[in-house]
Amino acid sequence: MDINKIPSPCYVMEEKLLRKNLSLIKYVKEQAQVNIILAFKAFAMWKSFPIIREYIPNSTASSIFEAQLAFEEMKSPAHTYSPSYSDSNFPIFLKYSSHITFNSLSQFERFYPQVIADGNKVSCGLRINPEYSVVDTDLYNPSMPGSRFGVLTENIGSELPKGIEGLHCHNLCESTSYDLEETLKHIENKFGQFLPLVKWLNLGGGHLMTKKGYDIEHLISLLKSFKKKYPNLEIILEPGSAFAWETGFLISTVTDVVENNGIKTAMLDVSFACHMPDCLEMPYKPRIRGAYHEPVAGKPTYRMGGNSCLSGDFMGEWSFDEPLLIGDKIIFEDMIHYTTVKTTMFNGVSHPAIALWSNKDELIIYKEFGYEDFKNRMS
Ligand SMILES: Cc1ncc(COP(=O)(O)O)c(C=O)c1O
Repeated sequence: MDINKIPSPCYVMEEKLLRKNLSLIKYVKEQAQVNIILAFKAFAMWKSFPIIREYIPNSTASSIFEAQLAFEEMKSPAHTYSPSYSDSNFPIFLKYSSHITFNSLSQFERFYPQVIADGNKVSCGLRINPEYSVVDTDLYNPSMPGSRFGVLTENIGSELPKGIEGLHCHNLCESTSYDLEETLKHIENKFGQFLPLVKWLNLGGGHLMTKKGYDIEHLISLLKSFKKKYPNLEIILEPGSAFAWETGFLISTVTDVVENNGIKTAMLDVSFACHMPDCLEMPYKPRIRGAYHEPVAGKPTYRMGGNSCLSGDFMGEWSFDEPLLIGDKIIFEDMIHYTTVKTTMFNGVSHPAIALWSNKDELIIYKEFGYEDFKNRMS
């Protein structure tokens, strides 16, 4: 790859890495005889959807924009789940969805008449909360006590309301097949009486099957034996991260180096707050290509400073073999899933361009951002 051809800053996804993930996901889908769909919340770079559709034709939506994007660019209606629907947006969800999952019984009761009036074209589901999660960070834990997501077993009573055809459970995040195994036990324990009565079970996202070391064959055998137990169920997984996991990077440039009390900060033309928000939220320290992940005594060592005015818009430290100079490129690894969908234009800071490095070794710029994009986002 010729780094010099790429504008700075720019998110660059590599087609061969994307296809590698897609092949693996399709393999699991076929072997386990389940449906696997793409969760847009983690990845919605729609100009690459023709590549995705070669392997996986369906997607999820949580907002009306995602639902419309599914319909227009994935060319298939969305599997929709939104924490709550409103009178104004529900008809739009209806138009663009094949499945709609409700977060509460009150939402189902309020909107089901519209589903009937629409000819019962969408299949309705209910989000269940298994009150079990392996996610340590509360910000990413849908099953923490007091969570606003999903109904508890005691909310339902002995019968599912008429019209509910599926159950939806999302409680994992970057998790293993063994975490899913535990989740299935909790679902059976709390909601087992309903499993033979519904048509589908959506097991949400968080299945990081493309991460090195994930036990793919265990996932397949787990899903197969669950399906054997409940042959009535279409099992659906809706991972997001797994699709775009380690498929690309964010390239940036050093614009200055400042020093304060012995701490050196490399100022960049990107921002953690605007372009890599998960780093600050989670928090996690991203890998930088060619840098030592932890400071090494005696080597040039820097914080990386973002170009917004937020005082906390920095991370670090990393060490390098040579001192950093203005114009040096800093490549943050694994910056495609979530990062590209969560950017903001806080402070009027411009977005990185979005590009594909194709299998023909060509740089295809999908999109560059300008003043109009900033202006149009604001009103
Ligand atoms: C309901 C639902 N489905 C799917 C996902 C995708 O999860 P992941 O990207 O971790 O696979 C999420 C993530 O928050 C979610 O809330």
